Amino acid sequence: MPARLLGEISAQLLFTPLAIRDVTFKNRIVIAPMATYSAVDGIAQDWHFAHLGRFALGGAGCVVVEATAVTDRGRITNGDVGIWSSAHIPPLKRIVDFMKAQGTIPAIQLAHAGRKGAMQRPWYGNGALTADDFARGEKMWPTVSASAEPMAPGHIVPHAMTPDELGELVQHWADAAKRAVDAGFEMIEIHNAHGYLVHQFLSPLSNKRNDAYGGDFAGRTRFPLEIAEAIRKVIPQGMPLFLRVSAVDGIDGGWTMDDTVAYAKELKTRGVDVIDCSSGGLVGSATVARIKRTWGFQVPYAERVRREAEMMSMAVGLIVEPSHAEEILQKGQADLIAIAREALVNPCWPQMAEVALGRPMTEALDDWTIQYGWWLKHRERSIADIRADEAVARKS
Ligand SMILES: Cc1cc2nc3c(=O)[nH]c(=O)nc-3n(C[C@H](O)[C@H](O)[C@H](O)COP(=O)(O)O)c2cc1C
Repeated sequence: MPARLLGEISAQLLFTPLAIRDVTFKNRIVIAPMATYSAVDGIAQDWHFAHLGRFALGGAGCVVVEATAVTDRGRITNGDVGIWSSAHIPPLKRIVDFMKAQGTIPAIQLAHAGRKGAMQRPWYGNGALTADDFARGEKMWPTVSASAEPMAPGHIVPHAMTPDELGELVQHWADAAKRAVDAGFEMIEIHNAHGYLVHQFLSPLSNKRNDAYGGDFAGRTRFPLEIAEAIRKVIPQGMPLFLRVSAVDGIDGGWTMDDTVAYAKELKTRGVDVIDCSSGGLVGSATVARIKRTWGFQVPYAERVRREAEMMSMAVGLIVEPSHAEEILQKGQADLIAIAREALVNPCWPQMAEVALGRPMTEALDDWTIQYGWWLKHRERSIADIRADEAVARKS
C-alpha cells in the first residue's frame, strides 16, 4: 500500500473533517437512510441498533436513521420507524448514544409517506395491502396527499388535505423534530424525495390543487417550505438541517432540475444547510426512477445545486469506489458523499476507503474502535512478517 505523502493528506477531501454550523463531521461519508421496515408500532428494535451500529463501527462520519414517520399515518408500511410520541425516543436514544461513542454524527430522516402509505413491506410485494397482509396482522389506514389521486390504480385514494390539516401537520413535523433533538440526534434530514408526501406537493403531476398550496411554483412549494421553516425554528441554531430532494421526477411534465435549483435557494433562506440530491419515485417504488443508472448517476444534480444555489450538497447513488467519491469532492460536485447499498455489503466501507486512498492500514487502525484495532494491528504485523518471508523464499 503506498504511503500517503503529506501534500496528499492536505489535498484529500473525503477524510478531511467538515463543520456545518456547530457540528463537525469527522469525514465526508454519510450512510444514507435505508428503511428496513422492521419496527413495531414505530418503535425501533434491537434490529435497528445492530444494523445502524455496524455503520458507526465502520467509520462513517454520519449515519442517518431510516425514514422515520412524523405521524402514525405517515408510515409507508406497518414496519416503519416512527417518532410521533415520546415512547419512540428511548430506543432511538440508545442508538444515538452508541453512534456518539464511536465518533459518528447521529442523524435522522423525518418523513411522511402521504399517498404512498399503508403499503406492503417490500418483501411482501411493495404494493397495496392485500388479504394475505391482513392475515399477517398488517393494519390499513386512510392516507392523505395534495390531491385525491392514488399513486397508481389499486392503491388507496388519498384524502386531499385541507389548509387547516396542513397547518396541523406542519406542527407534527416540528414536534417530531423536537423529539429527535431530545433523543440526541445532531442532524435532521427532511425527506422531501421519492414520491412521499412533501414531494407530492412539489410535483405538478401529483399536486392538482387550485388553492394557495397548489398551482404555480410558489403554491406547490408553500407547504414544503412551511415544514422546513417550522423545523428550523424548533431545533438548535447550531444543528445542521439537510433536505433530501428528488431533483427530477424523470417524467414528462414533472418536477425539473430548474425547479430544484429555485427551491434550494428558497430553502437556503429558511436555514436548510445541505440538499441531498436523489431522484424519481413519484410513481412506483421509492428507488425506481426512470433515469439511466450509471456510476454516480445523480451527481450532476448535486453539482448543479452546489453551483447554482450556492449551497452545500450531498451526492448519492451508485458511488462505490473510494477514488470516485474523492473525485466528486475534488471536482466540487458535492460536499458530502452518501453511501447506501455499498454499506450493506461492507459496513466498514469508510475505513477501507481510507486505506484504498493511501493511508497505511497500521496507521488507520488507530482510529478503529480499540476492540478491533488492537487485534488487527497485531494481525497486520503478522501479515507483514509472512509477506517478508514469502519475498525471501521467492528470491532463494
Ligand atoms: C434498503 C433500502 C432502503 C432505503 N430507504 C430509504 C429511506 O428510508 N429514505 C430515503 O431517502 N432513501 C432510502 N433509500 C435510498 C438510499 O438512501 C439511496 O439513495 C439509494 O439506495 C442510492 O444509493 P446507493 O446506490 O448508494 O445504494 C433506501 C435504499 C435501500 C437500498
